Amino acid sequence: MLPTPIKEILTWEPRGQSCMVGGWVRTFRSNRFIHLNDGSNLAGIQVVVNFELLPAELLQSISPGACLRVKGRLEASSGKGQAVEIQAVEIELMGKAESDIQAADFYPLQPKAHSLEFLREIAHLRFRTQTFGAVFRIRHAMTFAMHRFFHERGFFNIHSPILTASDAEGAGEMFRVTTLAADQPPRAEDGSVDFSKDFFGKAAHLTVSGQLEAELAALALSKVYTFGPTFRAENSNTTRHLAEFWMIEPEVAFADLNDNMDLAEANLKYLMHYALEHCAEDLAFLNERWKKEEEAKKKEERSELDLLERIQFVLKEPFARITYEEAIRILEESPYQKKKKFQYPVKGWGTDLQSEHERYLVEKEFKRPVILTDYPKEIKAFYMRMNEDGRSVRAMDILFPGIGEMVGGSQREERLEFLQNRMAEMGIPETELHWYLDTRRFGTVPHSGYGLGFERLLLFVTGMSNIRDVIPFPRFPKGIAF
Ligand code: 4AD
Ligand code: MG
Repeated sequence: MLPTPIKEILTWEPRGQSCMVGGWVRTFRSNRFIHLNDGSNLAGIQVVVNFELLPAELLQSISPGACLRVKGRLEASSGKGQAVEIQAVEIELMGKAESDIQAADFYPLQPKAHSLEFLREIAHLRFRTQTFGAVFRIRHAMTFAMHRFFHERGFFNIHSPILTASDAEGAGEMFRVTTLAADQPPRAEDGSVDFSKDFFGKAAHLTVSGQLEAELAALALSKVYTFGPTFRAENSNTTRHLAEFWMIEPEVAFADLNDNMDLAEANLKYLMHYALEHCAEDLAFLNERWKKEEEAKKKEERSELDLLERIQFVLKEPFARITYEEAIRILEESPYQKKKKFQYPVKGWGTDLQSEHERYLVEKEFKRPVILTDYPKEIKAFYMRMNEDGRSVRAMDILFPGIGEMVGGSQREERLEFLQNRMAEMGIPETELHWYLDTRRFGTVPHSGYGLGFERLLLFVTGMSNIRDVIPFPRFPKGIAF
């Protein structure tokens, strides 16, 4: 029989009824109180041991990290900090965890504060900490809410491929997938690697985005979304970049950029609302953690709002919507530019905004999320719809406090000729994307979509400061340990 989740037991009225739980020991105090957690919630439950009833040898083996199955009676607790507790009748030690610091197999997660850096090195065990338990329960809730949001609105989830022969973003930062011998690949006459001999008969990569495939589906199913892992081989060792991250990419036929902005704003707010409603215990814990971190910062770097207030604030306010051109003007006239506080000064139209600029707009100027639209075509992908000015495209980026870019999207170029011209300008051969161009040949229609970086959303909701701490096993340059 499976143990009852502790979360469920905590909803019972304590009447001395028997129950069975299974979980891992957080602490064992005074040879009497075991704090047991099974991951079903943050709090866990207190198990009270009567050492006269249980073998001394067994009790000696119970230490932090050990796995127990406990049968006992559920009683009201007279102690502080919990309403109920389990009076143990029988304890089964499923797996012990060495508590002797001298031992080679010492369990590294002793009950004390560990740095996130240290926990990243033992990512295989960090699920067992309160912080990561909270983060990954919220990650699950956000995944579920994401599917629910789209399902409620009549979207279909499309599983776009992970292996691909196309480079959707044209950014040239893809991981190659090959079965050719690394040391002696077959060569063509000119000495280049002969990928026609490779598994797929051509060069293949891990996808950077499911967008192009989502577009194909949207031009038949009208409203679709993808939610999958994407891969980028950028050498960005930052707190905002992963080499493997999860992205949600809706794509909607008949939608223009305004519809797209409305959908994205509703999408983000729905998720935050869901988190407040369904993850209250974990969020309260992360809020305390956030407050402690803020206190440790210099006064001028501290956030005015705590984690929960920040989420509530974003929910309440409409996102600011401005064009790239307006943003450049604001930045150029800002005191930061004048006092040379930007590492990269803003230099008019065409400047590729850095995260310091994005954060200035969000945190200093508007003090709420900002949607920037109509970027110069040169700094955006080939598929974005050209504006009448011939120099800007119908792009939108959603910028968030503390994070920078959370969403990148656009109205797509639905006109065959415009698309062909843009591809030619950017040196993208039509033969590579003939299937994509076919949608513009056969029954084309204006459509729009965006990509929402799931881990960036989680950074905002959990208040964690490093993206490596909101994905179970982060991949980054020189990092693929687990
Ligand atoms: O702006 P990006 O590159 O847009 C696309 O990939 C489009 N195909 C999306 C679309 O229109 N369907 O990426 C979208 C989002 C970014 O805004 C960011 O939140 C996240 O994906 N992102 C990353 N997250 C973590 N690590 C990285 N290396 C990321 N690169 C992008
Ligand atoms: Mg982007």
